[in-house]
Amino acid sequence: MPDNSTAELRLHGKTYTLPLVEGTMGDKAIDISNLLKETGYMTLDSGYKNTGSCASAITFLDGKEGVLRYRGYAIEELANNCIFVEVAYLLLHGKLPNEAELRAYRDLIGRFALIHEDMIHFFDHFPSHASPMSILSVMVNSLCNFYPEMSDDPLVDFDVTSTRLISKIRTIAAFSYKKSMGQPLVYPRHDLCYCGNFLNMMFDKPVHPYQVRPEVVAALNKLLILHADHEQNCSTSTVRLVGSAGVNIYAAISAGINALWGPLHGGANEAVIDMLETIYADDSNVRKYIDKAKDRSDPFRLSGFGHRVYKTFDPRGKIIKQACDEILGVLNVSDPLLDIARRLEEIALKEEYFIERNLYPNVDFYSGIIYRALGIPSNMFTVMFALGRLPGWLAQWKEMREDSTTRIGRPRQVYTGEPARKFVPLAERK
Ligand code: CMC
Repeated sequence: MPDNSTAELRLHGKTYTLPLVEGTMGDKAIDISNLLKETGYMTLDSGYKNTGSCASAITFLDGKEGVLRYRGYAIEELANNCIFVEVAYLLLHGKLPNEAELRAYRDLIGRFALIHEDMIHFFDHFPSHASPMSILSVMVNSLCNFYPEMSDDPLVDFDVTSTRLISKIRTIAAFSYKKSMGQPLVYPRHDLCYCGNFLNMMFDKPVHPYQVRPEVVAALNKLLILHADHEQNCSTSTVRLVGSAGVNIYAAISAGINALWGPLHGGANEAVIDMLETIYADDSNVRKYIDKAKDRSDPFRLSGFGHRVYKTFDPRGKIIKQACDEILGVLNVSDPLLDIARRLEEIALKEEYFIERNLYPNVDFYSGIIYRALGIPSNMFTVMFALGRLPGWLAQWKEMREDSTTRIGRPRQVYTGEPARKFVPLAERK
């Protein structure tokens, strides 16, 4: 009978037995945690293409089939039937809230919406062109000075701290926009929902009161839900790694925000719009940019295309594409960038280069077009991603801290530098 619970590794004529691990959905892994101790060998996996960094019960992703589930629920069902705070509760508590739980959670989020008035002065000292992502990471990091964890064990206060963060990040994001526009701040209102409040804080003006439209609120809820978690991506792994050093939760989330900023990660939503605008200004010459993306000597890539894990359509991208058509229709917006995006997708999906590399539109390809239609400027797109991703980061941080097997994250390396050298005093150096 073959032993299905172990793998064998033959190294220099000796056989080592390694335990196999299987997840609830059939993910298979070889546990190599004792490999170095037993064999003297480490594994080498640049970019962690083949490395599981943890076991997690939060999000399931099947990149071959294009499946995404939070806590077992299909992303399509959550996006079509839930509001964002309901999904945040699901990620953090492992279950969907009942009506009373949701009411209490919304109420608590509402109560934490203000930020300390002293923090408002911080906004005055950024240059007007400052990146909203840098402001967001600084302000979130600063929260630890105003709202320190109340006990030595951050898990004790986790519900309060995580709710506080989910609420305040929205206020910080809207205030940074208002400051950049030179407009007076609009404070949160207790009578508005999470997304309605955000939109009102962004767009209400003394002379032009903002009307919160339910269709716009619904579109924003959907976008935030679709971004709420995505297992061990770059920013989430950053939150876990930084968190494993024992820093306060605000510092870990701030680190995640910085990781998300990159154009290969969350920053891709802004990069997509920049790319579409460039193509539009270049006579909408889609063919030219497809050829540039295929040219390996050209650093240009199709932003919003390709994914480390999905080798088919990103399920989030499919939902967003449909939502994009719907909301632009409702708002009666005709955006030439949407036509360019559609043509890029249509051509790319037929080209050998994209087919053989399994490059499909990802979550970022159409999301920026919706944000534009809602009036959100492109330098705020990645901030929107951060608002959506926050419950996921928090749930992953909590899972990491509750896991008794967690140790400080500390990858190894294969050293390729100089061997030991004799020190040369300054006067003798050539
Ligand atoms: N345009 C053109 N070629 C591409 C693209 C693209 N967008 N993405 C990957 N390739 C090519 C790449 O050049 C490589 O070709 P070759 O095998 O000839 O060297 C091959 O496809 C594999 O690419 P890779 O860079 O090894 O794949 P990766 O898994 O390391 O990178 C990625 C994944 C998302 C960083 C990459 O696809 C990319 O840069 N996409 C554009 C940026 C983007 O849209 N990022 C958002 C990702 S989804 C949101 C999120 O979770 O952050």
